[in-house]
Amino acid sequence: PLSPLTITFGPGNATLEPQGQVLTRRMSDLEGLFVDGHAWRQAVVDGDPVVYTVVSSPVPEVPRELPQSITTIYPGDTGGEFWMTKGHQHPDPQGEIYLGLEGRGGLLLFDGERAEWLDMGPGTIGYIPPGWAHRSVNVGDEPYRFLAVYPGSAGHDYGWVLAHGMGLRARRGDATVELVPFGAPAS
Ligand code: PA5
Ligand code: NI
Repeated sequence: PLSPLTITFGPGNATLEPQGQVLTRRMSDLEGLFVDGHAWRQAVVDGDPVVYTVVSSPVPEVPRELPQSITTIYPGDTGGEFWMTKGHQHPDPQGEIYLGLEGRGGLLLFDGERAEWLDMGPGTIGYIPPGWAHRSVNVGDEPYRFLAVYPGSAGHDYGWVLAHGMGLRARRGDATVELVPFGAPAS
């Protein structure tokens, strides 16, 4: 285990200092996640943009530790579906806390039967109960950024979301976000 330490939000809340691992997810890392596969492929060909980054604190992902990370999702949509994280389930079902830092986002939760949507913004705490898969979405025009705090033993199961979906999808509507059934075709 680490010794007690303070961790500082960096400029624009984009970083944690001291910093651990930095993960960058490009469009090509999100195969099979957007309902419009043609739009996804075109976006990969057209420059393969960075969709989100995850900056972790130095606290390790091991049992009994409480790691944290800041995710930044860039604004955009692919075939009308807002840019989002891959989404995952914790193989060891444990709760997790998100704190909105910047921008406008949403937290999509799915337990295999029920889907829930939580609006997220600066100062919002989103609680993810054990057993709910979770995906974050940027529904605004600026980067959406949040802090996550989770048990070090929770783990990340990405296959669960590929197998079960997330219940809903978040599409760009006329004025606001439009939530549609997961299997609905792109319009
Ligand atoms: O712990 C979390 O739930 C977050 O830090 C996510 O891992 C992060 O937002 C990236 O999402 P994903 O792991 O689904 O790619
Ligand atoms: Ni998680």
